Amino acid sequence: MNDKPSTEKTATYTLTDNGTGRTFELPVIQGTCGPDVIDVRKLYAETGCFTYDPGYTSTGSCESKITFIDGEEGILLYRGYPIDELAENSDFLEVCYLLLYGELPTLEQKQKFEHDIIYHTMLHEQINYFFRGFRRDSHPMAVMCGVVGALSAFYHDSLEISDPKHRMVASYRLIAKMPTIAAMAYKFSLGQPFVYPRNDLSYPENFLYMMFSTPCEPYKVNPVLARAMDRILILHADHEQNASTSTVRLAGSSGANPFACIAAGIASLWGPAHGGANEAVLNMLQEIGSRDRIPEYIKRAKDKDDPFRLMGFGHRVYKNFDPRAKVMEKTCHEVLDELGVRDEPLLDLAIELERIALEDDYFVQKKLYPNVDFYSGIILRAMGIPTSMFTVLFAVARTVGWVAQWNEMIEDPSQKIGRPRQLYIGHTKRRYKPLHKRD
Ligand code: ACO
Repeated sequence: MNDKPSTEKTATYTLTDNGTGRTFELPVIQGTCGPDVIDVRKLYAETGCFTYDPGYTSTGSCESKITFIDGEEGILLYRGYPIDELAENSDFLEVCYLLLYGELPTLEQKQKFEHDIIYHTMLHEQINYFFRGFRRDSHPMAVMCGVVGALSAFYHDSLEISDPKHRMVASYRLIAKMPTIAAMAYKFSLGQPFVYPRNDLSYPENFLYMMFSTPCEPYKVNPVLARAMDRILILHADHEQNASTSTVRLAGSSGANPFACIAAGIASLWGPAHGGANEAVLNMLQEIGSRDRIPEYIKRAKDKDDPFRLMGFGHRVYKNFDPRAKVMEKTCHEVLDELGVRDEPLLDLAIELERIALEDDYFVQKKLYPNVDFYSGIILRAMGIPTSMFTVLFAVARTVGWVAQWNEMIEDPSQKIGRPRQLYIGHTKRRYKPLHKRD
């Protein structure tokens, strides 16, 4: 593995036009792992052509040293470390440090980082009043988009994106304040008082405490649930150039402030094909209701004329298995054991659905395996987290990935404003028709 991308290979490209062929050479860049990339940056200048790649299925949009996925082998590495090793041995704040700084912290660095994050968890008091503008029945993701976007109106002293110190303060603030905002969004929906963070609790403990305690009685955080929450956060912390991360990078490429960029990422995450999937899995399992109805839903998922898809199955990148799903399945059993949930009908249904789908030719041939969201919904439900909060939790976890990728982009000298091209298929130029001449 080399550290710098190498460009020893080239690709030859022949453009055939009216019987004449023009040949061009394009550099091929090799990263440290993963497929080579054909460098098309000069393609338009040299050939007058754009590339066409809706959904960016074959397009690398940036260089990155943060996360690597090998979808065929089911590998996910954060800064080179396998996700299962991190989930087993590390904790979320250590993973945050790793993603942000590129190396695991020493003991001293770890303690300082934890201290600095803890001391940024409280929100500007004025934000409490900002919440009051929302309807009580607002979806918490709507609240998250609004409140996180509004942070730039409260923290003026960390908006200078060309200043590395400002960038780091904004990054710490985002990582530290997301659980507080998420818990407030939940409390607001219940009509319960907001709970202030406590500096003697760990990051996942604090989150559970702010979600579930009230001023009326003492609340003791269950360590098994705190550990499960920590794992869920680690598993969702970063995932290369997915839709929300690319959204953050695209928003940031124009020089927008970090709070606005993360709000854009939250908006992108909200969709059911991305972060909304675990909520959709649970809704689907509830809709299926019983084992005998599974075949009917499998049939619907395979029917091209039916928009129904098996939620929690399939992934743009993983075509073998999702390594996060394995850890999630194990955590799911741990949480249910701890809570004494012996008969969870939705878990039974999920296991049976997985079994049937994995034996079905359609799913086997299309390489559709359970993704990280398949089991996470069941764990979160058992922990007492309502479905509408599932994507919010994902946003809490992914914030570190977003800010790490955003920082990397700002520091990249080859960074340009993101500006895709298009294949135009509309009208050619035509004259304006006055109103009285239109049919
Ligand atoms: N159920 C049934 N069929 C499926 C499913 C599914 N869950 N997923 C994909 N397919 C089929 C497609 O219909 C398509 O069939 P075709 O080749 O005959 O047209 C084929 O498998 C390939 O699927 P694409 O949608 O082209 O693959 P893509 O990479 O674009 O989509 C996605 C990936 C969006 C995740 C898709 O698998 C899906 O919608 N899954 C359900 C939603 C979900 O669980 N999302 C969570 C993703 S993980 C995350 O964001 C953390």
